[in-house]
Amino acid sequence: MAKILITGGAGYIGSHIVNLLGSSDHEMIIYDDLSTGRRASVVAGKLIVGELEDIEKLEDLIEKENFDACIHFAGSIIVPESVTNPLKYYNNNTQNTLDLLNLCTEYGINKFIFSSTAAVYGEPEGGVCTEETPQNPINPYGRTKLMTEWMLQDIAAAHKDFEFIVLRYFNVAGGSIDGKVGQCSPLSTHLIKLACEAALGKREKLSIYGNDYETRDGTCIRDYIHTDDLAQAHVDGLTYLLNGGKSEILNCGYGDGFTVQEVVDVVKKVSGVDFTTEIVGRRAGDPGMLISKADKIGKVLGWKPKHNDLELIVKTAYEWEKNL
Ligand SMILES: NC(=O)c1ccc[n+]([C@@H]2O[C@H](COP(=O)([O-])OP(=O)(O)OC[C@H]3O[C@@H](n4cnc5c(N)ncnc54)[C@H](O)[C@@H]3O)[C@@H](O)[C@H]2O)c1
Repeated sequence: MAKILITGGAGYIGSHIVNLLGSSDHEMIIYDDLSTGRRASVVAGKLIVGELEDIEKLEDLIEKENFDACIHFAGSIIVPESVTNPLKYYNNNTQNTLDLLNLCTEYGINKFIFSSTAAVYGEPEGGVCTEETPQNPINPYGRTKLMTEWMLQDIAAAHKDFEFIVLRYFNVAGGSIDGKVGQCSPLSTHLIKLACEAALGKREKLSIYGNDYETRDGTCIRDYIHTDDLAQAHVDGLTYLLNGGKSEILNCGYGDGFTVQEVVDVVKKVSGVDFTTEIVGRRAGDPGMLISKADKIGKVLGWKPKHNDLELIVKTAYEWEKNL
């Protein structure tokens, strides 16, 4: 049994890990300022409402609790906002993570799991990314995430006991199979959530950004991963680190992809609603295809995804959205 600090555990992805870890014998303390998360999404563990920037409060907690590991989800995640307000992202994602890492090294929290993103790859040639694909983020959000990856690598090189797992998430989607948690993020830009909102009449129409890419139907291809499988990757990563595993950077995706139009068709099928879509221009920096080469995570962590099924992903997202 270990004691785990989970920052951002009241948010979309963090709440799925908290839900899954709730059935383990690990003890969890969730530190979250509820800026985009919700109290009701913390279905296990103990929630402390606090900001990462409140270093005194965070230090008091870390000093008192003697954590074995930290899973760090807290951050700002909206790519267009990171372009218009980059300092918010450098403050929340870079500065706050640096402060957290200072406390971790000071108080001996030597196992660290970090939520990174496929955005670190930018617009990769060929569209399929291994962990070695050059990292060229094209927006402040992606750059802040890559900066944390660099900090972690440098800390691990300097402190022989410090080990991390960086998980580079591809397109996270769906809600938990048990229906307990799902996506509540305000101002979400996630296709499946937006399409479900359109199907439920919560938005007038769904915009499709470009249908002139070199893909099977002209719309962008992405690698959608179900939140429960992503949660399992964190639990596997935690087990790996607690058993003495070494630092690794791992892609989190299924290694295949669907076009935007295919996703829209599945949402229409699942909901039974032929909602309105409109083709608008391409968004700057949207690669035609972004798919993970995802075999490394299976080899290193023994991770075996169970929900690689677009219809199931959409069903869980739709059911959650309906009941929100
Ligand atoms: N959602 C995705 O598709 C996706 C993809 C790649 C990476 N990620 C990363 O995963 C992590 C979680 O993303 P999410 O989708 O769950 O987002 P989210 O906004 O739902 O969750 C973030 C959580 O962190 C909390 N938080 C934010 N800033 C804080 C601060 N300064 N102090 C304390 N708490 C704070 C929020 O209240 C929220 O509960 C982020 O680091 C994000 O960059 C997400």
